[in-house]
Amino acid sequence: MSAILKISQLSLCLRYAGISERILRGISLAIDSGEVHGLVGESGAGKSILGQTILDILPRIAVIESGTIDFDGQNLLRLAPTQRRGLLGSEIALIPQDPMTALNPVRRIGQQLADTLVLHLKLNRKDALDRACELLEEVRIKHPRRALRQYPHELSGGMRQRVLIAIAFSCKPRLIVADESTTALDVSVQRQILRLIRELQVSSGTSILFITHDLGVVAKICDRVSIIHSGRILESDAVKRIFSMPEHEYTRALLKATPRYDHGKHQFRPIPKALISTLQLEAKEYDRRIRDSVDA
Ligand SMILES: Nc1ncnc2c1ncn2[C@@H]1O[C@H](COP(=O)(O)OP(=O)(O)OP(=O)(O)O)[C@@H](O)[C@H]1O
Ligand SMILES: [Mg+2]
Repeated sequence: MSAILKISQLSLCLRYAGISERILRGISLAIDSGEVHGLVGESGAGKSILGQTILDILPRIAVIESGTIDFDGQNLLRLAPTQRRGLLGSEIALIPQDPMTALNPVRRIGQQLADTLVLHLKLNRKDALDRACELLEEVRIKHPRRALRQYPHELSGGMRQRVLIAIAFSCKPRLIVADESTTALDVSVQRQILRLIRELQVSSGTSILFITHDLGVVAKICDRVSIIHSGRILESDAVKRIFSMPEHEYTRALLKATPRYDHGKHQFRPIPKALISTLQLEAKEYDRRIRDSVDA
């Protein structure tokens, strides 16, 4: 299968108040066409920053130091800003974590869906609203006509997340970055939303980078997974292999730290502090090697 996204040796730092903090350290990762690829790691590992780099929505203090991001054969980092922006929402879309902040509170759901369709698919307003209604049906919103006229606060959290999913899939993007898209939802709604994302992904053939800190979610929706810590990918492979024969010590620790509801005897164990210290030292060592090679 061919890769729709191929990231090679991507390094990035944040520069503020006279200091430079490296966040991504030589990231390499490939996502195949039609694949759901999990990106898993603890808080602060650099997951969202990596997603924002792909989407080109980084904070202003971020500086990409090296690397390439090939999307459909072209290096995104070489594109002109206008070309890059043109891809956002149409070819590469986002399902964010928090629907309340992602949706505009003072615009009706229908208007917000139609905005995307008018902008990217150049539909007229009436056709866009008709299509918006179909999209709400596709994400199983029960009364789509009524929902079109409602404001975000009138919908439940699960319904709002369905609207964001409809927006993300509306322009048939090649790649979706889903950043903790189900984290804020309770377990049963989360299960429904994961099922919905998978169904839409299978029928559309869209690839997804699924960012989460939860290996349980990975098991439900991903084909392959990459494990990230301190901005470094430690291990990347098919979900089955990673779960049955994890190679990296950190992956093994993450699995032990994941509650398993299907295993009566499974003992939850926190990630050992010594292992975290080792990984942090390795990250510093990486930074030292980069500094030495620049100074040489
Ligand atoms: N806008 C910003 N300004 C300053 N630091 C930032 C900013 N965004 C991210 N960082 C820092 O970059 C590092 C990586 O952050 P990132 O948001 O990518 O983590 P994450 O893996 O997504 O964590 P979480 O699971 O909590 O969402 C963290 O140390 C974070 O504090
Ligand atoms: Mg994050």
